[in-house]
Amino acid sequence: MRVLSGIQPTGRFHWGNYFGAIRQYIALQDNVQAFYFIADLHALTTIREPQTLRQLRLDSALDLLALGLDPEQATLFMQSDVPEIAELTWLLMTITPMGLLEKCHAYKDKKAKGLPADAGLFTYPVLMAADILLYDSDIVPVGVDQVQHIEVARDIAQRFNHLFGETFVLPAPRVLDETAKVPGIDGEKMSKSYANTIDIFDPEKKLRKKIMSIKTDSTPVEAPKDPEACHIFTLYKLFASPGQQAELAQRYRAGGMGYGEAKQALFEAANAFFAPARERREQLAADPQRVFDILDRGAQQARAKGGEVLARAQAACGLAGLSD
Ligand code: ADP
Ligand code: TRP
Repeated sequence: MRVLSGIQPTGRFHWGNYFGAIRQYIALQDNVQAFYFIADLHALTTIREPQTLRQLRLDSALDLLALGLDPEQATLFMQSDVPEIAELTWLLMTITPMGLLEKCHAYKDKKAKGLPADAGLFTYPVLMAADILLYDSDIVPVGVDQVQHIEVARDIAQRFNHLFGETFVLPAPRVLDETAKVPGIDGEKMSKSYANTIDIFDPEKKLRKKIMSIKTDSTPVEAPKDPEACHIFTLYKLFASPGQQAELAQRYRAGGMGYGEAKQALFEAANAFFAPARERREQLAADPQRVFDILDRGAQQARAKGGEVLARAQAACGLAGLSD
């Protein structure tokens, strides 16, 4: 069984990305064959500064490795290092009904706002279908917002299979556990689109400053407070042991504790939680060649599998060598 997922390098990864996605990808790597990639071709639909994209591609690889993605267990690669993707995208595009793509939310939302959309945004789900189908992926762990795209990939695969005979494995989404939808510093869902993120690798000073800027209500210091109604506490729970959580909850309820103290506890817990990853990241950043080697090896593994599936698809639709 193969698990596959991709993450776009459109910004530095934040706590929401870690608890909502990255941590779960890493947890899967020990039990199944996992392919994880940095979706830089998808990121091109939003990032138009080459220097920014180059930097974020490297940062994303460093972040994932530092957080525990183990290249001996999982295959990590850069989407753009697998040229087979472009060819499969075209094959799939020729059998994808316009209507299927018109329903997809990224394009639909942009159009509803009266914004101009590029062909890249419109056909984004076909590239994503190629990402999935190229490696015979069985399971695709994604956030709820991406489930529609997996369904499109299934539809496209079914249509191809129907037209040309059994070629692609039908993938199934596995919805990541987002019960802990991580709140941002304004209490809304943490997202780079809302500029309310706390980044995993923010340097200590910036981390402290961001935590101190978390919005709170004006309950006076003396008053007892409900920890479950406070997003500082929601964030604290991500990092603290059950014992530490009970202790801080008790201090909330007892009164006499200001939000500043809760923020300090959150800062300490988060800082300690990510300290080993931060150290690993520094070591990796000092030896980028190691990271390039890991990505090269990942791309070779991905291309070996991808080449096989692409050949199968080419043969199915009549593109195989004339002399065969
Ligand atoms: P952003 O909203 O910052 O643009 P992405 O859409 O790139 O983040 O998300 C990448 C992954 O991280 C997705 O699987 C998504 O479900 C997960 N994720 C992002 N923000 C959160 C959050 N606040 N809580 C839980 N999971 C999140
Ligand atoms: N579109 C996905 C996102 O924004 C990233 C992605 C690209 C992906 N290709 C994929 C996820 C293939 C799973 C499988 O989160």
